[in-house]
Amino acid sequence: MAIRHFLRLIDLSSSELKALITRASELKTQQHNGLRHEMLKHRTLAMVFEKASTRTRVSFETAMIQLGGGSIFLSPNDTQLGRGEPIEDTARVLSRMCDAIMVRTFAHEKITRMAAVSKVPVINALTDAFHPCQLLADLQTYQEHRGDISGKTVCWVGDGNNMCNTFIEAAHLLDFELVVACPIGYEPMPALLEQYHSRVRLVRNPQDAVQGAALIATDVWASMGQEAEQIKRKAAFASYQVNADLMSRAASNALFLHCLPAHRGEEVSAEVIDAPDSAVWDEAENRLHAQKALLEFLLCR
Ligand code: CP
Ligand code: NVA
Repeated sequence: MAIRHFLRLIDLSSSELKALITRASELKTQQHNGLRHEMLKHRTLAMVFEKASTRTRVSFETAMIQLGGGSIFLSPNDTQLGRGEPIEDTARVLSRMCDAIMVRTFAHEKITRMAAVSKVPVINALTDAFHPCQLLADLQTYQEHRGDISGKTVCWVGDGNNMCNTFIEAAHLLDFELVVACPIGYEPMPALLEQYHSRVRLVRNPQDAVQGAALIATDVWASMGQEAEQIKRKAAFASYQVNADLMSRAASNALFLHCLPAHRGEEVSAEVIDAPDSAVWDEAENRLHAQKALLEFLLCR
């Protein structure tokens, strides 16, 4: 069977995505009940990290251990990638030894180049353009807390970044409306806005944008690699904080999600993220379960 990569959420069909989310919840229940699966016994995941990570690294490593396999953490400091070995050569070699390659990097093009030469599935663990693994967990979390997301309105508040781009693809696959509230100059990818114009619209004013939204999601104002723009971005996004006032303008019982790490007092207030019923910790945990379902989908077909 042809190998499948997971570079963008739209690498899955709608039905595959729905099945994967349901399977993630099933694996979670089984894990919580002590039922173990060793479906990846003797299999290895190579994990190439060119950016920092807490959740992604720990969830993939834990997933591989719990599924009976193993993983290898590779940072540019420890590999020949840091000394200029071409990424295609790295991908060719890793794919001769390992069963899958997970990559977190800057330009999305790097990961497509790796996938083009890899004999095994390549998984996008975040690029400047997309963060599809996070969306698996986010969609699982919404479904577990509030049920079916189709037909609902979701509001993205803040930077039109890798997370926002991936939310647009999710809106297409799961048939929800996405309202993006971002300042001028910080829009998501124009090509996505055009391609999925029936699912996504820009509303500049966050108070107007959240009206009727069943889910509010946000992310840091300066992503990894944008550290030099931090001061400029803080000023541009000052009126885009998700706080209790903004949440009160959304639909009643609206869910709040944040991929983390969060900057309290910037993109989100402490009262929202630290509310007793905050779903962000379930969202973080779901990275583990969603990625187990993904690994099973890619490696056990
Ligand atoms: N949400 C997320 O990807 O977190 P890390 O950067 O800690 O992996
Ligand atoms: N947009 C953030 C997501 C971190 C998980 C970044 O790219 O840094």
